[in-house]
Amino acid sequence: MAIGNLAVLGAQWGDEGKGKIVDLLSPSFAVVARSQGGHNAGHTVLVNDDQFVLHLIPSGILHPSVVCVVGNGAVIDIAALFKEIDELSERGIAVDGRLFVSDRAHVILPYHRDVEAAAEASLGANRIGTTSRGIGPSYEDKVGRRGFRVSDLADRRDGSRFAETLKINVERRNRALGDNSLDWRAVREEVNTYWPRLLPFVADTSKLLHEMMCTGRPILFEGAQGAMLDIDHGSYPYVTSSNATIGGVCTGLGIGPGAVDGVLGIAKAYTTRVGAGPFPTELQGELGDQLRQSGSEFGASTGRPRRCGWFDAVSLRYSVRVNGIEGLAITKLDILDQFSEIQICSSYRVGDDVLKDPPANIDLFSECQPVYETFRGWRGEGVTAGVRQEADLPTAARRYLDGVEELVGVPISIISTGSDRDDTIVREESFLTRWLASRS
Ligand code: IMO
Ligand code: MG
Repeated sequence: MAIGNLAVLGAQWGDEGKGKIVDLLSPSFAVVARSQGGHNAGHTVLVNDDQFVLHLIPSGILHPSVVCVVGNGAVIDIAALFKEIDELSERGIAVDGRLFVSDRAHVILPYHRDVEAAAEASLGANRIGTTSRGIGPSYEDKVGRRGFRVSDLADRRDGSRFAETLKINVERRNRALGDNSLDWRAVREEVNTYWPRLLPFVADTSKLLHEMMCTGRPILFEGAQGAMLDIDHGSYPYVTSSNATIGGVCTGLGIGPGAVDGVLGIAKAYTTRVGAGPFPTELQGELGDQLRQSGSEFGASTGRPRRCGWFDAVSLRYSVRVNGIEGLAITKLDILDQFSEIQICSSYRVGDDVLKDPPANIDLFSECQPVYETFRGWRGEGVTAGVRQEADLPTAARRYLDGVEELVGVPISIISTGSDRDDTIVREESFLTRWLASRS
């Protein structure tokens, strides 16, 4: 019998407001689990005017009764993890006994950042615009079968296998950078300091999740990044190095597909992207600046200004398909309050061709021009900011949301009208409400 585990996934290019939605739904779950990515994520949650930005630790940590899991599919910078734990505990959030990190997750070591910096520099104008956290090179080492997993950091009586691999990896780094500045022994020394503090958090998290499910405790799967940044389905090569789509939840946590009972896609009422790569609805100039300023569209991890544009229903439809999304949460609707006219991209045009789906070829994707449907804005008619009842939304705002549903092809379950937990409309007739109710 299904016990109601829900996946909450980014449906755009990341930064969709997953943190807020996970925080909102967390009280209905016993466990919140991350299955991929690392501290490249920046999940912002506002609690009574206090802002928290979570990077690697699931946003569910802000609820004391919730157990949090970072699964085998994530990559972990141990120093960054400790820093995040320290920052939370300084603010009164204790993680001991309720944060668990997979013994099979790969680690990010200092040389991964060096390798990434060199790779980005060598790409010149074609660089990806990564978060410089060493995420990609750590995943490269994983797939290249030369990475280190959390369990490899354990105190070993004979560390020769670890030492030999580390030596080879550091030599590879030195060759790639054309210098000999890094001594593998220094890395080993640093790594050796991690284990005593890490040990209490380390677990076979697949087993832990199975035990949770066997005792009827529901799990929320918190996605990082978004479908269009997925290594397989995103705008490759301008993507992150993990599966941010639904399959990543299973491989990244060691659970079967039957453990995922529902998939909620998160999308902003417009689109943003940070880093390089195709973005058909990007607005240059004044409109883009307006979205960026009023939406505070600056990276939560890197502080970079985000590229901003209109809602892209083409990539959303694609995201719905590759994820099996059943309902949407539309966030930051209030940011559109100031516009008298709003566009939704319904297809792409390349020359004389009209595309209904994002193309695989990256050069073609980069040439795509948006074909827009125009919607009347609600400026002067009312605001959506802070609205908590659907009936209180301006008529034009409701028409806009109807347009999103129609063009994307799935119903909207949640509408977010501000960063506060309470600035949220959960539609009573939505799959989410029915599903949460059927569980209790
Ligand atoms: P959340 O979870 C937005 C982007 C980077 C870059 C590309 C590759 O907050 O939605 P990486 O460092 O992962 O190798 O960078 O992916 N990127 C994100 N963009 N939100 C994120 O996470 C992102 N994580 C990575 O900007 O374009
Ligand atoms: Mg982010």
